[in-house]
Parts: sequence; structure tokens; C-alpha cells
Amino acid sequence: MDPTLTQIGTQMSKLTGVRAIMKDIIETLRAGQGQDWINLSAGNPVILPEVEQLWRDCTAQLLASSDYGEVICRYGSSQGYQPLIDAIAKDFNQRYGLSLSDRHILITPGSQSIYFYAANVFGGYTSSGQLKQVVLPLSPEYTGYGGVSLTPEAVYAYKPTLEINHEQHRFKYRPDFSQLKISQETGCVIVSRPCNPTGNVITDEEVIKIAEIATPFNVPVLIDAAYAPPFPALNFTEMTPVFRDNIIHCLSLSKAGLPGERVGVAIGNPKLISILESFQTNLCIHSSRYGQAIAAKAIASGALPEIATNVIRPHYQKKFVTLELTLDKSMPKDLPWFLHRGEGAIFAWLWLQDLPITDWELYQKLKQVGVIVVPGSTFFPGLREDWSHQQQCIRISLTATEEEIEIAMQRLATLVEEVYRIGSG
Ligand SMILES: Cc1ncc(COP(=O)(O)O)c(C=O)c1O
Repeated sequence: MDPTLTQIGTQMSKLTGVRAIMKDIIETLRAGQGQDWINLSAGNPVILPEVEQLWRDCTAQLLASSDYGEVICRYGSSQGYQPLIDAIAKDFNQRYGLSLSDRHILITPGSQSIYFYAANVFGGYTSSGQLKQVVLPLSPEYTGYGGVSLTPEAVYAYKPTLEINHEQHRFKYRPDFSQLKISQETGCVIVSRPCNPTGNVITDEEVIKIAEIATPFNVPVLIDAAYAPPFPALNFTEMTPVFRDNIIHCLSLSKAGLPGERVGVAIGNPKLISILESFQTNLCIHSSRYGQAIAAKAIASGALPEIATNVIRPHYQKKFVTLELTLDKSMPKDLPWFLHRGEGAIFAWLWLQDLPITDWELYQKLKQVGVIVVPGSTFFPGLREDWSHQQQCIRISLTATEEEIEIAMQRLATLVEEVYRIGSG
């Protein structure tokens, strides 16, 4: 059967970004069964025993409670399971001195869906035919944003400025406010903080500045806090969630150990929240209530924020330290390699300036020495400019063991040295 697809059908049945690479990775792993791959491509969080136990305990409590039937045997409100909404409002009000009511909160099936709703509610063509852009102020960005708009030409990303420390072989991306344009033509802004793939955390001041530029145009700014405090608290540098009238602050329970249950949270102005809620009702009615119910218990008891800070964050932070120490020891000092400052998330981002081959070729060569990373060029959704930097980066996941990371970085260093030497003749 070969049905005719609509424009949207053609577009949405294609895989974008990392999902497309994952196909190659899965095939590589399958073809090389028995081979000892070090897989540094994964975005799936590690199953940490304390985290798994927390979800087990919350599930046991749910099973024993009189609420059980009400939770899973019945539909609920589109806005979300009330005890979860209440737990989040209480936690955030206490923690950040806010006055959120339940009308400020929407629970979604994973946070990816919030970006889908927003990209199509605020971005795309208005009824008068004007194209409203979905602006990504800082490229590279989460590849998932590349597939969320039903009007792909709406997604528009900006090149950052680079702050480079040549001696330390470190660098950091910063929003380029001299280029960033938020105007009448902007539908919404999305930025991940901490960032997947780079581990960058844009400062509180930079978030405020973006929100302020967007304010006169009534443009919502979505801050993707999938790695942010209070859970999963995957920030290795100080950061404070910023709340403003036009900010939709988006949480995810995925990196806090619950990716399979698909729980995301949008926090913002009730008017914006109610628009997103209607979209959700039309699309899927509501998120799974089992996931919401165990999340409510873990947040209300304070256990989740505590485990996030004391278990989840140190787990990945230690891996990043191993990775950077190994690179500092093994990478040739005279080559222009730069590791992005490790400020959060579960990835490291390496830039190999003037790399004589493409990131894709480097990915293939790394496979030959048993190491799988993700080529960086997949992480520039919406960037229209030609920028050689896009082919000079790789994303390295911190989900492997410390030993694996050490071995893989040594292999990478040897390979990179060879590539530059051969490349330069
Ligand atoms: C930055 C970022 N935002 C959103 C998501 C989607 O997360 P969720 O599982 O909440 O849909 C991910 C997943 O990896 C991510 O890295």
C-alpha cells in the first residue's frame, strides 16, 4: 500500500537530526555484534539504582493507595493530574518565591510535545498569511526543535559568538545580541538551558535580556529546562530559573529517571498555558496518569529534588571531569581542539577547528576504532548560514562508564592527531 501523503505527511514521516543518525548507529551496532563498542552516542539516561528505587517506591505507594483506580482507570483533565500540578506549584513557590496557581501549569506527554504545540500555535502562517518564526537564539541547539514545526521554513536559528581560551583548549558559545532579531515576525523563541548538545548554560542575565527583547512584540520565550534544577539538576554551574510574564518555563521528568512515562511540564502565564492546553486536548487528551501520579509523590515528598542534587548531578559531573582530564592529557597541545565548558546536561561537545575532514567522516573513522559519537552537524536546526564550524564538532555522551570514557578519549586523541597530520600533508 502506497498512500499519497500530504505536505505535512511527507514532512512528518521523515526523521530529523539525531533520529536519522541513530538509524546508522543501530545498524552499526547490529552488524558488529560481538564487537566491544564504546557507545558515546546515547541520549538515554543511565538507570541509577537510587533513582530506580525512588520510582519503585512511589509505584508501591500508588498501588497501595485508594487513588489507584482513579489514576489509571479513568480519563482526567487535559491540564494534568491535580496532585502533580499542586506539588509543582508548591515546590516552585517555596523554592523560588513565586506565586504560581494551578492555572500556571500544564502537564504534557514529555516536554518535546510542549515545543511541538508552541512551534505550531505561535509559529507558522497567521490567518493573514504572515510567517511567524520560531527563533532559536543560539545554535547549535537540541535537534528535536528541527522537527517540531509543521512549517519547517519557520524555524530560524542564529549563529553564536565564541569565547575561546586557546591555552586551556576550552570555549563557550554566547548569544550574539548584535545579530539576534526578535520582532513582529517572531512567533516564539526556544532555548535549551542547560543545552543539549553543548552543555552550555546561558546566564540568567542573557535569559532576561532575551525575554525583554521579546516583550514589546508579545512573543513567548520557551526556556527548555530539561536538564535544569530543581530536577534533574544537571547543572554544574550556578543557574537560577528565570520567570517573566512571557517566559514559558518547561520541565521534563525524563532526565530525572522517567523518560518512559513521558511527563513534561509547562509553567507560565495562564493565558498561554490555556492555549497550549487546548492544543493538547485536540491532540491527545492528556499525558499518562500513572507517570504523573508517581511524579507527584516524588516531588511532594522532596525526594526527587534531593536525589537529583545528591545522586544524578554528581554521577554525570564526575564523568565530565574524567573526560576533560583524559583529553587534557591525551590531545596534542599544538592542535586547535576546544572542549565546550561543561556547565551541565549529559554531554560533552568537542570542536576541532579546521578539521581536515568532515564531522561525518570523523564519526566513520571513530567507528573503525570502536567508538561511536554523534556528528555535530546534526545539531544546527534552522541555521541558514553556511558555517564551516558545523562540520567540526562532535557530541560525546556521558552515559558510558568512566573507564569507557577514558579509553574512548584516548582513541579519539590518537585518531585526531593522525587526521590533522595526514590532512595537513
Ligand atoms: C534539550 C532537550 N529538550 C527536550 C527533550 C525532550 O525530552 P522529553 O523526554 O521531556 O520529551 C530532550 C531529550 O533529550 C532534550 O535533550
